[in-house]
Amino acid sequence: MTPQHFETQQHFERTIDRDQRVEPRDWMPDAYRATMVRQIAQHAHSEIIGMQPEGVWITRAPSLRRKAILLAKVQDEAGHGLYLYSAAETLGADRGDMTAKLISGRQKYSSIFNYPTLTYADVGVIGWLVDGAAICNQVPLCRSSYGPYARAMIRICKEESFHQRQGYELLMTLMRGTRGQREMVQDAVDRWWWPSLMMFGPPDTDSTHTAQSMAWKIKRHTNDELRQRFVDMTVPQADALGVTLPDPDLRWNADRDHHDFGAIDWSELKRVISGDGPCNAERVAARRAAHEEGAWVRDAAVAYAAKHAARQAGREA
Ligand SMILES: [Fe+2]
Ligand SMILES: [Fe+2]
Repeated sequence: MTPQHFETQQHFERTIDRDQRVEPRDWMPDAYRATMVRQIAQHAHSEIIGMQPEGVWITRAPSLRRKAILLAKVQDEAGHGLYLYSAAETLGADRGDMTAKLISGRQKYSSIFNYPTLTYADVGVIGWLVDGAAICNQVPLCRSSYGPYARAMIRICKEESFHQRQGYELLMTLMRGTRGQREMVQDAVDRWWWPSLMMFGPPDTDSTHTAQSMAWKIKRHTNDELRQRFVDMTVPQADALGVTLPDPDLRWNADRDHHDFGAIDWSELKRVISGDGPCNAERVAARRAAHEEGAWVRDAAVAYAAKHAARQAGREA
């Protein structure tokens, strides 16, 4: 190790110890950079793929008001994807390369988006549970050690809280409706509850990245801590709504001061992550088609930039 390298490493460690932010031009260990790129790319892909399950309901929204809300929500997710791809670019990642990895299955996205949306109640339940789980995961990321990621997360979390509320408000409306509408909500809750709990990732005992990510302050809480926080937050909301969470083992534990809940089927998470969920092929195919159909836009932008640069050079000469 050269003296200069030693100094930069010390600077990095001090930044982490003092809870300050690592910025794009700072020296950082290769493994830190690789972990950040992997996490941010995966997060960006999740936002973009996450537009699909709800996007298919935009043309079938039950009223103009619902359509306007859903359009705004899906558009927010596109924006989240864009901030995050930009944050990954500050680490030297290439946007085209990340997209290529996504559509060839070499980079992952959240397994939750591989489930189908069968009724309009799914739009409400996704807002309530999926965006709700995303908030639990993402609020601590506003203090993540990598500056551009932490700052992007502040705006993203504000928009996620709108997503959660619009979902809950939609469900409240359905629950005040007909018996058929109430059954539709319960059915959606039954299908999304367990996949939502899986959004926090494998249990701490099996999580490969947690220890290092905690030491680098990329992550502030373990998967199981965040999952518990989500369950504790959601149970009273389910009560207020009048739906039953599909877990017979779910109950308040006064000794732990938390809710106990049933065992999660981790084999399902593994299966869906490795590509065998109900909608994996469909989601990636839709993303690939959108990328291919957008080729002319990228070509036109490159041609325009080249023409503009040539004209500028001509003017300066
Ligand atoms: Fe989002
Ligand atoms: Fe969202």
